[in-house]
Amino acid sequence: MIRVLGIETSCDETAASVVALDGDSTPRILSDIVLSQIEEHAAFGGVVPEIAARAHVEALDGIIEAALADSGVDLADIDAIAATAGPGLVGGLIVGLMTAKAIAAAANKPLIAINHLEGHALTARLTDGLDFPYLLLLVSGGHTQIVAVRGVGDYQRWATTIDDALGEAFDKTAKMLGLPYPGGPNVEKAAADGDATRFAFPRPMKGSAQPDFSFSGLKTAVRQAATAIAPLSDQDVADICASFQAAVADALDDRVSRALNRFRQEFPGEVEPALVVAGGVAANRTIKATLEALCEKAGFAFVAPPLKLCTDNAAMIAWAGIERLRAGISGENTADFVPRSRWPLDSISAPMVGSGRRGAKA
Ligand code: KG4
Ligand code: ZN
Repeated sequence: MIRVLGIETSCDETAASVVALDGDSTPRILSDIVLSQIEEHAAFGGVVPEIAARAHVEALDGIIEAALADSGVDLADIDAIAATAGPGLVGGLIVGLMTAKAIAAAANKPLIAINHLEGHALTARLTDGLDFPYLLLLVSGGHTQIVAVRGVGDYQRWATTIDDALGEAFDKTAKMLGLPYPGGPNVEKAAADGDATRFAFPRPMKGSAQPDFSFSGLKTAVRQAATAIAPLSDQDVADICASFQAAVADALDDRVSRALNRFRQEFPGEVEPALVVAGGVAANRTIKATLEALCEKAGFAFVAPPLKLCTDNAAMIAWAGIERLRAGISGENTADFVPRSRWPLDSISAPMVGSGRRGAKA
């Protein structure tokens, strides 16, 4: 039996969780506590790093205590502490990793420094018991990536965004249109009453051979359309949101279908290939339906873990710790590990020219 305490503080969620694995049985999430800071940041229309770090300091001890209490496991019976060590906002990472180091030192437990993206990448094995290899589409406020997940610690980034992350594009669109933060759910809500054909927004990168993403041109097109017809009525806002969402779905369809083709070529022996989605944008029903239809056409299983485990949480960090312990590659688990605000999953992939991981989230 392996039991790991996970800690996540890389952006604006303070989270702790205990996950257990008994032999080869199904893993169990014994506790999973996530405290969102959305209210603290809403007035600013985005995550404010200093406010986030302070909120983590205030909340983390209590969240860890609650996660241990909920799990019914004593700290003495925990096998390791796994904490997000990057990428993300460095203030929050310091709070989480230092707390984890202190607990590990005091309780004499190993510490495992986890890459937040690895947490997202391995979640489908926690929730759906998926076997390697599979394809991951991560669409959140800070990242838009397609990753071939080949094994624990064995990831290849096949695509990333050359400018904004998709969630960021939703948030900025919402802000331009006067919709509240976080923008994604509000754009989706407004789009429900809109005409998706009213504005012919660009489908960024459509047709390019590399499955990379770009959303800043789309954002500019939205701004121009909104400025041209200002002041906006509710119907105008709804039509812009619906047209924006249709452009995004269409662009994703093209980009992801190229990655599915590449997966077929690189893993010809995979009889049941799968596409996994993670990140807050995966909550969008239009996007989900588009990806589901694409997978069906291409003969891929479509795996969307429950939203609570798709967005930032600590169960995925605890699980990544278990995967690393089990694979014998708990790796960089020294007390000297320093938080990394940037930490690509795939060290071979060169950074994109002009790419901004501008958003805080991963
Ligand atoms: O995964 P997440 O909760 O946090 C990280 O970024 O790690 O993702 C948050 C992002 C925000 O940009 C939010 O606007 C977007 O996901 N989002 C959505 C929807 N729900 C959340 N975007 C589009 N449609 C939604 N329904
Ligand atoms: Zn994340």
